Amino acid sequence: MTGLFITLEGPEGAGKSTNREYLAERLREQGIDVLLTREPGGTPLAERIRELLLDPSDEPMAADTELLLVFAARAQHLQQVIRPALAKGSVVLCDRFTDATYAYQGGGRGLSIERIAQLEQFVQGELRPDLTLIFDLPVEIGLARAAARGRLDRFEQEGRGFFEAVRQAYLQRAEQAPQRYRVLDAGQTLAQVQADIDALLPSLLEACRG
Ligand SMILES: Nc1ncnc2c1ncn2[C@@H]1O[C@H](COP(=O)(O)OP(=O)(O)OP(=O)(O)O)[C@@H](O)[C@H]1O
Ligand SMILES: [Mg+2]
Repeated sequence: MTGLFITLEGPEGAGKSTNREYLAERLREQGIDVLLTREPGGTPLAERIRELLLDPSDEPMAADTELLLVFAARAQHLQQVIRPALAKGSVVLCDRFTDATYAYQGGGRGLSIERIAQLEQFVQGELRPDLTLIFDLPVEIGLARAAARGRLDRFEQEGRGFFEAVRQAYLQRAEQAPQRYRVLDAGQTLAQVQADIDALLPSLLEACRG
């Protein structure tokens, strides 16, 4: 038995967490076993690495340090949570995964895509998400939603250019492998976004029962 690995991607404030809950409910009401998790994090140790990544500290974090911490957290999360859940046939809904590394550390920080791909292979082996939902949103709307929540984390303190690069990196990845990605217009009302998710459900359920 092998489960289904679905990741949700997009910038801060795009609605990943909100819609992850929505999708989980839709799947659970069909009797499907769903595991919700997130990155960076998803285990106690990986959540501590998340805190390091998000905390705006006085010491500037080197981009390579950031990249390695992201993959260190991911290695832990895969071993402790994701692989066991997939092995028992669950649907794993993960809020951010390696596409976020390509978008933030690749697009945003300008790190080499080849290096990210090497780490991806090292940490994940052949494991890739079966499906990735990208919540796409104009940068200013996402920043406004993040700002409305108060204190900004280390990423949210970046400028507009950083988030434009993040957005373009996501869209480019979706374009290069359209069978694995669904780009959702996250600038619509929540009801509209959820209607788009409903439209994906039949094919998702089919894949779950695969
Ligand atoms: N389509 C939408 N229209 C308006 N508001 C929305 C929409 N989707 C989500 N929101 C609101 O925007 C805020 C951010 O949503 P959410 O926390 O789901 O985003 P996120 O992608 O998980 O962000 P982060 O990356 O920062 O965790 C929440 O207050 C949520 O209710
Ligand atoms: Mg969230």
